Amino acid sequence: MLRRPEDLRCDSLRSPEGIDNPRPVLSWSVDSSDRNVALSRCEIEIYRYLADSRESAVWKSGEVDTDFPSVICPEEILEEHSLYGWRVRWRDEKGVWSDFSDFSTFSTGFLATQWQARWITTSEPEFFRTKGTYILGEYIEGHLHTMGIYLRKEFNTSDQISRATAYVSGVGYYELHINGEKVGDRVLDPAQTAYEKYAMYSTFDVTHYLGKENAVGMILGNGRHIDSYGYGIPEAIFQLRLEYADGRVENLCSDTTWKCSGGPIRENGIYYGETYDATKEIFGWDRPGFDDSGWGTSVPGRGSELRSQSLEPIKVIEELAPIALERQEPGVFIFDFGQNFTGWVRLKVRGPRGSCVRLRFSELLNKDGSINTLPMENAEATDTYVLKGEGTELYEPTFTYHGFRYAEVTGYPGVPTLESITGIVVHSSVEKTGDFFCENELINRVHECVLWGQKSNLMSIPTDCPQRDERHGWLGDAHLAAEESMYNFSMKAFYEKFLDDIAASQRDDGALPDVVPGYYKLYPADPAWGTAYITIAWDLFNFYGDRSFLCRHYTGMKKYVDFLSTLSNNGIIEFGKYGDWCPPGSILPKRTPVALTSTWYYYHDTFLLSKIAGVIGLEGDSLLYLERANQVKQAFNREFLKKDHYAVTKMSPRESLDNALLGQTSNALPLALDMVPEEIGKGLFERLVDYIVRRTDCHVDTGIVGTKYILEVLSEGGRADIAYRMVSQESYPGWGYMINQGATTLWERWEYLTGSSMNSHNHIMLGSVDAWFYKNIGGLAPLEPGWKKIRFSVPLYKNLGFASAGVRTPFGTASISWERFYGYLILCLSVPVSTTALVEIPVKPKGAVLESERSLADRGIKVLEEKEGKILIEIGSGLYSFRSEI
Ligand code: BGC
Repeated sequence: MLRRPEDLRCDSLRSPEGIDNPRPVLSWSVDSSDRNVALSRCEIEIYRYLADSRESAVWKSGEVDTDFPSVICPEEILEEHSLYGWRVRWRDEKGVWSDFSDFSTFSTGFLATQWQARWITTSEPEFFRTKGTYILGEYIEGHLHTMGIYLRKEFNTSDQISRATAYVSGVGYYELHINGEKVGDRVLDPAQTAYEKYAMYSTFDVTHYLGKENAVGMILGNGRHIDSYGYGIPEAIFQLRLEYADGRVENLCSDTTWKCSGGPIRENGIYYGETYDATKEIFGWDRPGFDDSGWGTSVPGRGSELRSQSLEPIKVIEELAPIALERQEPGVFIFDFGQNFTGWVRLKVRGPRGSCVRLRFSELLNKDGSINTLPMENAEATDTYVLKGEGTELYEPTFTYHGFRYAEVTGYPGVPTLESITGIVVHSSVEKTGDFFCENELINRVHECVLWGQKSNLMSIPTDCPQRDERHGWLGDAHLAAEESMYNFSMKAFYEKFLDDIAASQRDDGALPDVVPGYYKLYPADPAWGTAYITIAWDLFNFYGDRSFLCRHYTGMKKYVDFLSTLSNNGIIEFGKYGDWCPPGSILPKRTPVALTSTWYYYHDTFLLSKIAGVIGLEGDSLLYLERANQVKQAFNREFLKKDHYAVTKMSPRESLDNALLGQTSNALPLALDMVPEEIGKGLFERLVDYIVRRTDCHVDTGIVGTKYILEVLSEGGRADIAYRMVSQESYPGWGYMINQGATTLWERWEYLTGSSMNSHNHIMLGSVDAWFYKNIGGLAPLEPGWKKIRFSVPLYKNLGFASAGVRTPFGTASISWERFYGYLILCLSVPVSTTALVEIPVKPKGAVLESERSLADRGIKVLEEKEGKILIEIGSGLYSFRSEI
């Protein structure tokens, strides 16, 4: 029985408003438990919703042959500033059509015309200027931040409005108010970008906020739009499109007639925190009828090109109640949220006017129970609230965020209780689309740490950490965690925007910076960082099956690979800054020569570029880059292959004599890309295993680069058991060690450190392990781009009785759960419509495998292969339940 398609999406999952892509992608998925169902055709209809509630069809696709649940809207169908509804029905391979889906809506923003509104800012910047700030650890004197800037404008509407749409941006951050209410539920909007290249605008339907007399108010915060990054005073732009019932259209636009003033936000900065003086609140400033004669006027801003914000906005996602409250010393109260996270706290307080409550944040406590702010380095991370003295007051900051588990409260009038503050969790509102669970509690906790680490670092860009004075889009961290993030969250729109950020940061010679958006001008990137451009695009293609990223960025990626060639000398790139960053005991690579990682990524990127060229049909380029990649491979082996193993950095005279010291990263990397000459590959793998077992007692000795590959290499080589031992170690160095030391998010370093330097307790870069959990404990991985073909493969580890994993693929949910049960393996699978799966099922010699308690032959399931205690079968979509004797 065919069900209706569900889960309809336009372009991105959660921001289908105001899109500026004239050819958005319309996609859907179908949830069906029937077997062997495949999409063969679909039919899409798009309607334009008109002001007087009429609708008119703008496109009926007719029957389109496709087995992929997504269609690109054809050219020149969409008009700007319009609301559309679309629906789809589809036909399976037997020719049966489903019903049409419900309608899903999206709206267009600026497609052809220019903004009429003007960027504006305050006319009195000096009046607003406040604090200095730190850049790369150095305090830059001067007045670099501004206090919150309040802007306002009133207007009347004479006639009946049928639709009012607000397009708005404000850099660094803005908050929009209409008639006394905050518009929408976005926070820390817009997404961070390199503002000299573009800023993002948000779109809100504000019809219901308006009356006859209206006031628009905006508050601006610094965010990253500060002098130290070459910007300056915050700026805003606002255009309100009013559509009247009689068909007239009017635009209300920001211009220099807008008034501006300071207000209660006295200081604000991402690192600094916020100072809010409630005695300076301006009653009615965002309502009509307010006397703003004492306010200043605004002046034109420098402005940025505008693009519609298509990624999921940052929002308040959940609230956390503190689990403990201690009085550390008189007047100093420490709240523990039991979880390291990103956001802020809501303060609830009563007290005399002018009293001042100070909130400070930390990831760790000192031995005496006070907060340890050393790992914050130069981020003051302090919120201060001055009471107005009017009953119970609630305060949350507007333009800052912190990474913390503990909050210190001082200056509280009286004694606070557990209800006095609430944790507010804030991040890009990507949807959770993956699930993983297994019998090993330690591994489940590592997985939870990865989820929290990921949520803490999705702040419209993938940041390295949320607490100290960095929080930047370091490319190394970003690409190493990318695959894992796609298993766990809906990352397509997020990374689509980040790829644009990377492209925008590319220099004419092809070089990329280490940090994107390029607030720090760190050119050229370490090749292990710059690879993010190619690696993330490739991961996106594999996960979501969408070639458009590859097409759009092909020229840029090619320029980058060509730039790498200019860094190389006879195929070797000596240049590098971080390499296999943060191995045990160090920040800098210890065992792995930086030239080895740089050259390996040169090969990796050249090789992937050749594959990408192939995917988008550029055969000539594909061959050319494959040839180049082969030359780099030969150079790599000439330089680093020492008879039967790859070189490590010599550590000490004793070690340098010891041939057995292979170094996990140096050897795992070439194995991962099949670069090792065939005649020594097997031996090298065995020596690597021996080294891991005997020399490191099944612990990692990798930095962030090697960590992503060592586990995969072991699993691919048939020694997943060793990888499993490594990930379940409880002693140093390893993830379990972090857990045993109380980690609730993964750390930057393998060591438990409490000092001030490079010691974040919430970094995501070692979280690459989570993709390994999905693939090698759950047993779920894509075999073809977009999960068109899926591999389910049940691993049998000693002492692991069950696991389950699920992922939302472009076709629907793919999931696996398996359990060992008194000599049997029970295996349940869900294979999405239009996909097929290769399934490896362990079975003892001559043992039986049944599906829904009938033989495979009875079920029409063909065994493709039978070997070494497992069978290999291929199945189509549907729900399956296998039982196998093991
Ligand atoms: C960041 C890292 C980053 C690194 C590059 C650090 O300060 O926190 O995660 O990749 O610098 O060296």
